[in-house]
Parts: sequence; structure tokens; C-alpha cells
Amino acid sequence: MISQKQIKEIKQIGLKIDHDVSFNGKSKGNNHLQRTVNLASHIAKKVGANLQVVVAAAWLHDTALPTGDDYNYKNNLQIVKDILKDITLSEDDRNAVAECVASHEGTKIPESLEAKVVHDADVLEKVGILGLIRHTWKMTNLKNIDSEKIISDDLKKIIEHIEWRKNMLQLEESKNIAKNLTIEIDNNIILKLIERSAQMANKGVITEKIAVTLKDILNKNQLLILEKQLNQKYLTI
Ligand SMILES: [Fe+2]
Ligand SMILES: [Fe+2]
Repeated sequence: MISQKQIKEIKQIGLKIDHDVSFNGKSKGNNHLQRTVNLASHIAKKVGANLQVVVAAAWLHDTALPTGDDYNYKNNLQIVKDILKDITLSEDDRNAVAECVASHEGTKIPESLEAKVVHDADVLEKVGILGLIRHTWKMTNLKNIDSEKIISDDLKKIIEHIEWRKNMLQLEESKNIAKNLTIEIDNNIILKLIERSAQMANKGVITEKIAVTLKDILNKNQLLILEKQLNQKYLTI
């Protein structure tokens, strides 16, 4: 059993890496980890997964980001196991958390119930409008796209990535949440959204601050869905 004190320590490690180390601190202050923990806890309770394992893994799930490649299962597994060496966990808990972290990007199908929960919580951060902003942010800061010149291939790749991840959702509970977080959006609007996000991401603006500048691009319903995805009030219902 992972104690609350250990969860606290794990949270601090996860936040430190996400805010200060990944992308050289450019994502400092972003709320992705907290939202992922909220989603993962919500889903874990619904499906009866081990809550402590899920929460610990959700805090640590992006610890491979500083390497620039968090899609590599083995790499992720090694990184998180090294991090967990300093925390006294049972062998079972350590392996369970590491497995969730390593398979969160879907490059290996998540097998345990806890891994499915953490994977799906992260995917729910990559669906809909928030997903488009966040993936554009990542691609910009990994220098995979040129923020000043978004080409049709960039648009295609970002849309395909979002679709691929959504199609990988494992649990019915998560699929239902995804339905409520997605809305019809034209490709020309997506292009504008990507251009804005990439330009701001390149200047070191975090996702949440980009999201509040989109009133001239998105319609009222699209803005409401984005707000819902960010404030997560629907999780308490
Ligand atoms: Fe990730
Ligand atoms: Fe993530």
C-alpha cells in the first residue's frame, strides 16, 4: 500500500520534473498533471482500480519527457524505476506504478487495469480542443513543427495523432467522457487554432494561457467545451 506521505513525495517529484526540467521549464505552471490525476482518480473509482497506484503513476507519467522521447516503453520504464528507487515501496507497488507510466502513451497496449486508467486519463487530455492545443504545444517545443509556418502536413499529423490516441481509449467510462469533451470543428478553424497555439507555445506561453485567447477563433459552444475540459467541474457530478 502506498501511503499518503509517499504520494505527496511522488507528487513533488512529478511536478518538479514537469515544471522545471521538461522543455527547460517552459511548461512551468501548467496544470496537466493535476488534471490527469483528477481524471485518473475519477475513472479508478468507477472501475475499481487501485487508487494509490493510479494516483502515483499519474503524477509520474510524464517523467520521460526531459529525454525528448516519452513514446518509448522501455525508456519510460527505466526512468520511473530509477525515480522510485528513493521511495520505499513494495516490489509489487513499484512494478505496478512503473507499468502504468511506461504504457501511458499507448505505444504498448496498457495491460493492467491501473495502466488502462492512467493511459485513458492522459488520452482525455489529448482529445478535443485542449488536445489540439496541447499536442501543438508539444510538437512546437520538440521542434517538430515550425511555429511560423504551419503546413498542411503538420495539420494532418496533429489531427491524426489526436484521432489515434482517442481510438486507443481502453475503458467504457473513458470513452463516455471523451464523447462529452469533443465537438465538431472545421479543419480551417483547427488550422487557425494550431497556428495560434504554435506561435504562443514558441514564446513560452503555457497551454492554459493559450486557451483563454481563442475567443476570436472558436464559437461559443467550442469555448464552453474547452472550459469544461480545463475546469473539470463535470468530474464532481
Ligand atoms: Fe506523455
Ligand atoms: Fe501526459
